[in-house]
Amino acid sequence: MDFQNLLFEVREGVGIITLNRPKALNALNSALLNEMGALLDDIAKNDEIKVVVITGGGEKAFAAGADIAEMQALTATEGRAFSANGMKSISMLETIPQPTIAAVNGFALGGGCEVVMACDIRIASTKAKFGQPEVNLGVTPGFGGTQRLPRLVGPAIAKELLFTGDVIGAERAYQIGLVNHVVEPEELLNKALEMAQKIAAKGQLAVRMSKQGVNEGMNMDLARGLQYETELFGLSFSTEDQKEGMAAFLEKRPAEFKGR
Ligand code: CAA
Repeated sequence: MDFQNLLFEVREGVGIITLNRPKALNALNSALLNEMGALLDDIAKNDEIKVVVITGGGEKAFAAGADIAEMQALTATEGRAFSANGMKSISMLETIPQPTIAAVNGFALGGGCEVVMACDIRIASTKAKFGQPEVNLGVTPGFGGTQRLPRLVGPAIAKELLFTGDVIGAERAYQIGLVNHVVEPEELLNKALEMAQKIAAKGQLAVRMSKQGVNEGMNMDLARGLQYETELFGLSFSTEDQKEGMAAFLEKRPAEFKGR
């Protein structure tokens, strides 16, 4: 695939997506969002890609939000369509079978923070900055901010960030549970790739079932979620990886998973 607004490479089973509009601080315009949706659709069907890492090109930003220049003249109907279209692409980071890791290198504001929150795991550089500053522009978030932020950090802190538009640093993001780890900028991609490789070495069907279990279970009450987990656990015994993983343990050797 040929992209104008993204870079994509696969390194040892890890797909690395780089948002690539550095002159606009990787602002998310429709073209970028459509490319991201098409790419994630392809990745979802490609078992050779076991984990996805997404980061921002350029020095300063992961993504400084949805593209304000593109949004400025939208009508209400067009604004709704812009949101629905972006939401579709961004939600794929959550719904593709592979785990997704955001490596946040700089500003992750508005839509940028919303992309980060749709990922399964977040690693921030000490220079990363997070916020939902939409209220400064007279709009409410449109790519999942009012929904994913409270689910991640709780409604009280989410409301403070959403109402004030405050921008927070990586340490505060770590304290409130918005990011899993904070590392020096020069270590960011390595840390994300290291984690991705660790995940890629496991039984992939089990990893995917674990993602599915958490994602689906978050929308269920506990009793139904536990029942759902029981079904997934049973299903995992239909895989060759389960036979290999348990045999390897008992034979005291490393497992060689095939993802089947
Ligand atoms: N959309 C379009 N262009 C943007 C942009 C955005 N969200 N953010 C930055 N840019 C552009 C700037 O217009 C500027 O372009 P020019 O060089 O052509 O003038 C370039 O990127 C560099 O930006 P700045 O000169 O502003 O850089 P700075 O270092 O002074 O400030 C910043 C950096 C604080 C991140 C500032 O750019 C900023 O506040 N950006 C907007 C942040 C924002 O409000 N994001 C939310 C957008 S709304 C949204 O995302 C809605 C939704 O949920 C769907």
